[in-house]
Amino acid sequence: MRFIAKSIVFFAVSSSIFAGIPDSPTRSWLKHIDTFSLNKIAENISPADAEVGAVIAAKTKANPNYYYHWVRDAGLTIDALISVYKTTTDAQQKNLIRKKINEYIGFSAKIQNTNTITGLGEPKFNVDGSPFNEPWARPQNDSPALRSISLIHWAQQLILEGKNAEVKEKLYDTAATLPIKKDLEYVAHHWNDSSYDLWEEVNASHFYTLMVERRALLEGAQLARSLGDEKAATYYLQQGKAIEPVINQFWDNQEHFISATINRVAGLDYKKSNVDVAVILGLLHGGMDDGFFDVSDPRVLATIEKLISVFKDIYPINKRNASLGPAIGRYPEDVYSGAAFTGGNPWPLCTLALAEALYKYGNILYKHNQVKVAEEVYRIADTFVERVRYHANSDGSLNEQIDRNTGYMTSVSDLTWNYAALLTTRNAIL
Ligand code: NOJ
Ligand code: NOJ
Repeated sequence: MRFIAKSIVFFAVSSSIFAGIPDSPTRSWLKHIDTFSLNKIAENISPADAEVGAVIAAKTKANPNYYYHWVRDAGLTIDALISVYKTTTDAQQKNLIRKKINEYIGFSAKIQNTNTITGLGEPKFNVDGSPFNEPWARPQNDSPALRSISLIHWAQQLILEGKNAEVKEKLYDTAATLPIKKDLEYVAHHWNDSSYDLWEEVNASHFYTLMVERRALLEGAQLARSLGDEKAATYYLQQGKAIEPVINQFWDNQEHFISATINRVAGLDYKKSNVDVAVILGLLHGGMDDGFFDVSDPRVLATIEKLISVFKDIYPINKRNASLGPAIGRYPEDVYSGAAFTGGNPWPLCTLALAEALYKYGNILYKHNQVKVAEEVYRIADTFVERVRYHANSDGSLNEQIDRNTGYMTSVSDLTWNYAALLTTRNAIL
């Protein structure tokens, strides 16, 4: 892994057009994952007994019950669908995606206007759109940011298609009665508040949350400007930029990795290492390829190395099948096993995050003419994808977790987010 940490020397940007990195069997497989993933995701949007537009986290209704609309999972999933919509030439796929997105927009508008305990920071809803009012880790302020990112991307797509009227009717209005500006106003006014993290456990400031909040505000500013809402654009841009120095504080100069969390207020108190794959997910979901915490940033590369070295050692399955990349979990102190708290496991979506980040790093190297190193980084990325494929169910489906001892899939089946992760990992390859 030596060269992963090697920071790249930026030679003059090559003018050569991508000849592409030759496909490996892993990448050929990934390139054909869209129909499978899309169908899996489509099943979990607007299922028969839910309100139209609800995106369930999984079909599993007990031990644990994931039959809810989680705002985070839904936003990430819809965003992955949009990326397929943009690239596919298959008219049937396009129609299916358009239909599901329109349903999601309707459901999102409904739940935003529902009275909840924490307003727009509310992390999950019952599938009929009613508030979930039981005790829970709330608010989770990444949620409205991710919802708005997905809707901003859809608005941009509609604008490209000349459908500005549809954007103004359903998605963005100056008066903030429509979904995008509602969320942006919340994010712009609350990014500095502490909230629970994406794993729903610690109330604090989080790298992940701040990264997606920054992206929502900066992309939201661009959209607001293009729609003539100048004042809002200026404000969102200013708030988005104000987040940057705060995010820089997460670099641990002693330990040499990016910490997941600072300024803890409440929640779990045993995450002593502060090593967490949430940082990588923060780059993948909040990164803008604008030079701010790109995957080639030496701080990011050091964090990737740290994660690999920590997880390699803690799961028995990583001691077997050495040709596969190590299976990656959420964070080393994790004990959540799905139905119980009997010890943390590796997760497909966390393992895929390493693959996705490494493909993106390979792309940057490639663009800078470091073709050989790029190919080697791609090869390593492949091993993480292969790890997930190896432990998948025989029909290719993916549960939330991989049992750390047996290697079998465990916790809820068909976690919607997993299929979104497969799609974004696929989209990362050149
Ligand atoms: C359920 C959450 O979804 C999970 O992320 C967490 O680990 C457990 N609750 C424990 O807080
Ligand atoms: C638990 C995970 O920790 C959280 O990130 C996710 O939103 C929920 N499960 C639903 O999938």
